[in-house]
Amino acid sequence: MKSKYTDFQNITQEEYFNLIAELMAVRKRADVPLAYVRTYGCQQNVADSERIKGMLYESGFSFTENVEEADFILFNTCAVREHAEDRVFGNVGALKNIKRKHPSVMIALCGCMMEQEHVAQRIHDSFPFVSLVFGTNCLHEFPRLLYNTLLYGKRTFLRGNTDENVYEGIPIKRDGNFKGFLPIMYGCDNFCSYCIVPYVRGREKSRRPEVVIEEAREMIASGYKDICLLGQNVNSYGKGLEDKPNFSQLLKEIDKIEGDYWLRFMTSHPKDCTKELIDTIAESKHISHHLHLPFQSGSNRILEKMNRRYTREKYLDIIKYAKERIPDLSLTSDIIVGFPGETYEDFQQTLELIREVEFTSLFTFIYSRRKGTPAADMPDVATDEEKSKWFQELLKVQEEIAAKRCADMVGSVQKVLVEEKSSNKEGILNGRTSGNIIVEFAADESIIGTFQNIKITKARNWILNGELVKE
Ligand code: SAH
Ligand code: SF4
Ligand code: F3S
Repeated sequence: MKSKYTDFQNITQEEYFNLIAELMAVRKRADVPLAYVRTYGCQQNVADSERIKGMLYESGFSFTENVEEADFILFNTCAVREHAEDRVFGNVGALKNIKRKHPSVMIALCGCMMEQEHVAQRIHDSFPFVSLVFGTNCLHEFPRLLYNTLLYGKRTFLRGNTDENVYEGIPIKRDGNFKGFLPIMYGCDNFCSYCIVPYVRGREKSRRPEVVIEEAREMIASGYKDICLLGQNVNSYGKGLEDKPNFSQLLKEIDKIEGDYWLRFMTSHPKDCTKELIDTIAESKHISHHLHLPFQSGSNRILEKMNRRYTREKYLDIIKYAKERIPDLSLTSDIIVGFPGETYEDFQQTLELIREVEFTSLFTFIYSRRKGTPAADMPDVATDEEKSKWFQELLKVQEEIAAKRCADMVGSVQKVLVEEKSSNKEGILNGRTSGNIIVEFAADESIIGTFQNIKITKARNWILNGELVKE
């Protein structure tokens, strides 16, 4: 897809790529200019980094995993929890030495953290070796920003873009060649009271369905077997678009594309999860039988304080319907432990819900106070020690459930996408089921990236062991 986008000086994206390549030809230290791109945070950031890498690639860069040899270093940051931010600050601090050793290296930061005023200010004041900072809604501006920073050597900060346009045609360099992300929308309008994302990602914007469908078609044609549609709340896809296509309609259109592939999506918000969506999954050819439906807390009192706009009962209703329509459905969820004001009784309701639903796996987080969000000012009752005790209790309950769910699959034959060699076992490959469960089995690595049938022979907690079923 070629971009028609030009900037205010009427310079096209492609022209910037050539200009950057010319400047880098003199700055590079190896045969070709090398970029080191490190991504923190969620899949949305991974997808953004793939676009940034696409632009760097078109500007003549190759990529390195060794930060020491890079001519351009970029960290794409995440602000969702304090721990994530601390890690970034620590790692950025460590770049000071690299800049001292190699003064020609350019250091840039982008992503969610940079959209917070106090963070950008701190980078500005305390990290003078960072030359370029840009926010989440100015990816399309990256070639211009990089070029100008290289050319004039002046520090550049660009953030807080509230532009409502969606810019298409940015080149992409995907990390994988058979599993890939496909963003269908950006931003979030939900303002859950604990969450920084709406402040750092801006208002919800959907990509046009024809652009999404075309990108899916291109991915399938070039061999992608697992495509994950991305958005902070995919269920509200299309809201701001002219003809208001809904998410189920988009899924049905993509599902019509011929080929052997799985279609996934993340994340669904329970408040907008409709029976139509469940029916669409049940009746589709390619949509994987996996639903990631974060419920965050099992207590209605806490859900209300979180501004989640559904109740425990509504959540369980949709789960019940989903299980009836799709008996082999694999359910996963996100949970926050220790939200301000949460008591042990509230937490017990979360445990009860987990026991009732029997999730395949959970992403569990201890509440982290985010400056500027409503929850940051809510009074707390539990101590940090209590919260970590609850957290351990939650992990233990879930471990038992996951083990039971996996044990139930022993003896079945599962279609698996073969993903990689095991990192610690010789001759063993790892794959994933449609429900996103990891399966280990012995086979030759030449089958990585293909679908195979695996007979499940053993379950070890949440990992399955199996044998390749020969055709
Ligand atoms: N849009 C997605 C999730 C985005 S953030 C959704 O609504 O489900 C991913 C997860 O991080 C959230 O589901 C939540 O469980 C967790 N999270 C977000 N803010 C948090 C905070 N302040 N403290 C702890 N966990 C948080
Ligand atoms: Fe955050 Fe809620 Fe938006 Fe998810 S839906 S990104 S949790 S505000
Ligand atoms: Fe983090 Fe931004 Fe994603 S805050 S979780 S990278 S949307």
